[in-house]
Amino acid sequence: MSDFLLDPDVIFLNHGSFGACPRQVFYEYQRWQQRLEQQPVQFLQRELPGLLADARRQVAEYLGAKPTELVFVPNPTFASNTIAKSLDLGPGDEVLISDQEYGACRFAFQSAAQKKGFRIVEQSIPLPVQSNESIVESFWQGVTKNTKLIFLSHITSTTALTLPVAQICERARDAGILTMIDGAHAPGQIGVDLGAIGADFYTATCHKWMCAPKGSGVFHVREDRQHLVEPLVVGWGWGPEKTFHRDNEFLEHHEWLGTYDPSAYLTVPAAIAWQKECITDEVRQQSCDLAHYAVESASQIDGIERVHPDAFFSQMGLIDVTARKFDAEALKSRLYDTYRIEIPVIRWHDRMFLRVSAHAYTTKGHIDTLLRALREIESAN
Ligand SMILES: Cc1ncc(COP(=O)(O)O)c(C=O)c1O
Repeated sequence: MSDFLLDPDVIFLNHGSFGACPRQVFYEYQRWQQRLEQQPVQFLQRELPGLLADARRQVAEYLGAKPTELVFVPNPTFASNTIAKSLDLGPGDEVLISDQEYGACRFAFQSAAQKKGFRIVEQSIPLPVQSNESIVESFWQGVTKNTKLIFLSHITSTTALTLPVAQICERARDAGILTMIDGAHAPGQIGVDLGAIGADFYTATCHKWMCAPKGSGVFHVREDRQHLVEPLVVGWGWGPEKTFHRDNEFLEHHEWLGTYDPSAYLTVPAAIAWQKECITDEVRQQSCDLAHYAVESASQIDGIERVHPDAFFSQMGLIDVTARKFDAEALKSRLYDTYRIEIPVIRWHDRMFLRVSAHAYTTKGHIDTLLRALREIESAN
């Protein structure tokens, strides 16, 4: 697919880390930047509130949320810090996470835990997973009477596993435990209906699988939980004179955190329109099929195994190369320098994985080159 600006000399199998922006979406982003610079005061003071409200309405509709429950943020790291710092957690309290959480978000909670004295409980979700029910059961073993918050990925970064977050949020709600879901990899890769998931807090990137420009994310907070969340950066909206949103304190507190370039946020509707037009069910299915083909074919190679059953991953597949005893950095360099393949090599516990992402621009030829490389590279140390 020629829509993307990606270097044609690189086999790009790492959409998962930062996404990739299609040409028409990127040009729209540049148009916003130009418009801003033509008359910065007109744009930022007079036009921006209405423009952001419109973009917020469109992304809320795309994610099955109310526009008053969602703000743009640069990324999930930002939203995780906001929650870790805001919630009234202290000695005796526990935050339950899985053993497959993204490092930066885990650090946000660990740093707050050190200051406030609460404890992080890391519960293992054993691989390979068997069923959604068994995932919920093993994760739930980490819950105690002190658990105040569950922080969990919708699709994990290190292991590319889709977790049954709606089931976990429902059980948590019944137990009086707050939930924050890290959906960095979910919108654009799988359907996301925030109303149905029912998390108290949910964050996602728009720049990964929705293909919006970098630095666009969302932070969703249910109306009845908004009073719990302090802005990470205190700005004009926090003061007595209301700026943008006289009738909504959540938006007032979180939307304007000082002067910034809102162009990436304002481009999210263009990314949604592009998704609707170009990423048809058929195109998405092709990408899923390629990720599944990569995983299954790699598992036929000596010393390589697959990890998850098909039902637990979509456009990101996990290939377990632990038995090959590669050095991670050496393997990554070898794949890039010799084969021009961009793919993450992930160390997790004592295992080593390749995480292969497939998108509309991925071809079977790309995957076959990866498979050839895995056959040819006998050692990388
Ligand atoms: C599961 C998960 N959460 C959070 C993030 C953080 O994303 P960002 O750097 O955009 O905050 C990532 C990034 O890859 C991720 O994979």
